[in-house]
Amino acid sequence: MSRRSCLSEDMAVVLSLEHGAIIDHEAWILQLLDQHNFYHHEKRTLNFQGLFDIRTPFLMDGQAQKIAERLERKREETLEPKRKKKKKGLTSETSPHKDAEQDHILSTLSALQSTPEFKATFTYTPTPDDYRMNNIKVRNLRTRLMEASNVTLARLDGATEGGGFSTKVMCGSKYILPPHTRYICDDVANILNHTSGERFDFVVMDPPWQNKHVKRKKSVHGSKQGYSMMNIKDILKIPVDHLLKAGGLVAVWSTSNPSHMQEFLQSLHTWDVEHVATWYWLKVTKAGEPITLQEGRCHSKLPYERVFIARRSKTGGCFEDIPDKFVFCSIPSGIHSHKPPLYKLLKRFLAPQPQCLELFARNLVPGWTSIGLEVLRLQHSYLFEDLEDCLCL
Ligand SMILES: C[S@@+](CC[C@H](N)C(=O)[O-])C[C@H]1O[C@@H](n2cnc3c(N)ncnc32)[C@H](O)[C@@H]1O
Repeated sequence: MSRRSCLSEDMAVVLSLEHGAIIDHEAWILQLLDQHNFYHHEKRTLNFQGLFDIRTPFLMDGQAQKIAERLERKREETLEPKRKKKKKGLTSETSPHKDAEQDHILSTLSALQSTPEFKATFTYTPTPDDYRMNNIKVRNLRTRLMEASNVTLARLDGATEGGGFSTKVMCGSKYILPPHTRYICDDVANILNHTSGERFDFVVMDPPWQNKHVKRKKSVHGSKQGYSMMNIKDILKIPVDHLLKAGGLVAVWSTSNPSHMQEFLQSLHTWDVEHVATWYWLKVTKAGEPITLQEGRCHSKLPYERVFIARRSKTGGCFEDIPDKFVFCSIPSGIHSHKPPLYKLLKRFLAPQPQCLELFARNLVPGWTSIGLEVLRLQHSYLFEDLEDCLCL
């Protein structure tokens, strides 16, 4: 894993077509660091880069071991290249899921796979050893990061100025902060106390929807694991109507619960916005295969998340129509719920130099206002330290 030496204008969007795109979350973070001269040494590889080193689909250790053994046997029996076989799994014919949404996502992925950009981005071919390791380095790194960054900060409302990244020590933890940010560590219910009537062109949120996985973590590990959850009524109480400008967009990462999804979409009028599109984020490995598919057999649900995009009435602005059912794929970070930079794909549908707000944020973006109970968690200095192999095994 080595750092890219040359970063172009927008490394986050590798390819954007009419119905689908490839984005590179790791390159986006690298680009921010590069633009603001964070690097001092040419060959450093930082911990956050290790989190994107997803070589094989996520499997139970026993399953991964069996695949490693099978790959080794096959390698002895035949000289047929593995990569050809792997691609069979990415067509809708071999998927047992006949669901239209999944078929649409798989067929968009097939179209993306045929592009030179896809082939140049997802060049990795996993080895039997990679299966045997079952992403252990990423999992260890994630555990260490989540432990190191498990700090409860007091309420705060801060900002950074220009002039590059700065550091701030709070509660014994060091944070690396990008320039030109406003960060608020508070409950989103209090957002209007901080914004003094300011309105935004773009509001993105990834709410802590009520969810069995987080609930289970909390009950097994106590309140330190997982975060507090919100029901639809509480989410709809967020005063989006007071935060969005006319023509502004709100993007909401969805729950996976179909009835909650439906109820939420039907209640969007509360925010005085109209649902204009649903997009899909498909998570893939470094080899470009869905992170829960393996060798032509779908052993679990296709790994994608939905994001709902809604616009406040268009008066006063003329905006391009947003395509519905747009599919974008990227390698996810190993951190639970860590979302890719959706804004990079949506900015062409916004006013020039938009004012942006992230609710339930865990990291900061230059030029943005961010609010959340863990607003600085992914700015923790542990992410920006050098990746040391000995730490990862
Ligand atoms: C699903 S995560 C967001 C993850 C984020 N999109 C990312 O990419 O890292 C939800 C976050 O909201 C925080 N949170 C939960 N309830 C909150 C509330 N009432 N107000 C503000 N933040 C809250 C949680 O602590 C958690 O950090």
